[in-house]
Amino acid sequence: MYFNKWFNIEFSDLFLSKKDQMETPYYLYDMNLLDTTLEQAQVAAELYNIKLLYAIKANTNPYILERIRKYGFGIDAVSIGEIKLALTNGFQPYQIAFAGSGKTKREIDEALQLNIATIHCESLSEWEYISSVYPTECTTKIALRVIPNVYTNTHQHIQTGGNNHKFGISTEEASRLIQKLIERNSTLLPCGFHFHVGSQITRMDYFEELSRSVLYFFQTLPSSFSFDYVNLGGGLGINYDDPDNEMIPNFTGWMRAIRPYFPQDRFPHVYLEPGRSLVGQCGKLITEVQYIKNRQDEKIVILDTGMNDLMRPALYGARHHISPMQPHSETTQFQTYTLSGPSCESTDCFGKNYSLPELKEGDHIVIHSCGAYAESMRLNYTQRLAPSCVYKEGNNLNMYTSQRKKIKVEQSF
Ligand code: LLP
Repeated sequence: MYFNKWFNIEFSDLFLSKKDQMETPYYLYDMNLLDTTLEQAQVAAELYNIKLLYAIKANTNPYILERIRKYGFGIDAVSIGEIKLALTNGFQPYQIAFAGSGKTKREIDEALQLNIATIHCESLSEWEYISSVYPTECTTKIALRVIPNVYTNTHQHIQTGGNNHKFGISTEEASRLIQKLIERNSTLLPCGFHFHVGSQITRMDYFEELSRSVLYFFQTLPSSFSFDYVNLGGGLGINYDDPDNEMIPNFTGWMRAIRPYFPQDRFPHVYLEPGRSLVGQCGKLITEVQYIKNRQDEKIVILDTGMNDLMRPALYGARHHISPMQPHSETTQFQTYTLSGPSCESTDCFGKNYSLPELKEGDHIVIHSCGAYAESMRLNYTQRLAPSCVYKEGNNLNMYTSQRKKIKVEQSF
């Protein structure tokens, strides 16, 4: 009998009767795992005296946000939409930092009116604009996002910390700007510095390299200049290959790699902005096999979910662990499949060579590690309906439609 230790339930329990069957595709969130992950991140952060801002772009689901808010995390937002979403979900303006290489003037105006905690300014023109409109009674602090010029070994689409990337301002520009502001006795000075090298980083030496690069930059700043904080971004990766064996990312290792470079007496305020590492493993995407096509050299499975609901494989060639939902015995025959989505794009494919127990049309399969950058990156393309969401809490399953309407009240087993 197939037993999934992750949820501590037999998946077949989700199909108690045909009538009760949950319609696929749906995102399945394990709220207990989310709790444990948040707790461990918080414990590590307290140990190393680091403050955490959740990168809300990773998952904007209100039930996930509610949980994150309860643990006391702040928010890293990259649009006024994300800021407003955070506020609607109970976060306070003083908990919100606003980054983004393309903030519009209107977004900046609104963020200043809302008195959010900080804006991470990413260009000299943006600095000029902010200083020209900065209201006298505003409490929002302005920090600079600076390029650390560190390249990681992750997919090039999710690297952000190099001199040829569009994010932030160069170290030379930043030092010159500060020199100029000091000479002019400017009342608005950067309150801190923000860096972010990229995402899905599993090698801690990149965070050490980032830290060294940041310290090197600090040496180039005028000695009379002091600042409040350093924010080293997000980027801690998760285990996509074998999620069941690493459900909680190594928060302690991440912080241990960074903190010694920033001694408490000189750097009392250090921030990190995890997104994926907090929510990635708590979500799965459940889908049904629609059709199986026997091609000459491969079996192509068409699922009822695809790039609309999980864009990562199509966009970055990302590979998610995929397993069967139905029970299978030791003697079950395995087959190799190409798993494709229903969209009229050849790139709508989760990948080739997935080895699974022999599938038939109507079978359900589980796509793992879909808590981050799946629901939040969902596409409306071809007008496919958004999947419902199911939340597992203890032994209860609560199901909500994509319109957040609760349609199933506590099914326990
Ligand atoms: N801070 C900044 C400034 C960021 O741009 C990001 C992510 C984060 C924090 C959070 O990074 P994380 O801890 O989640 O790695 N859609 C891609 C990932 C894009 C990440 C964008 N920025 C994916 O699915 O892999």
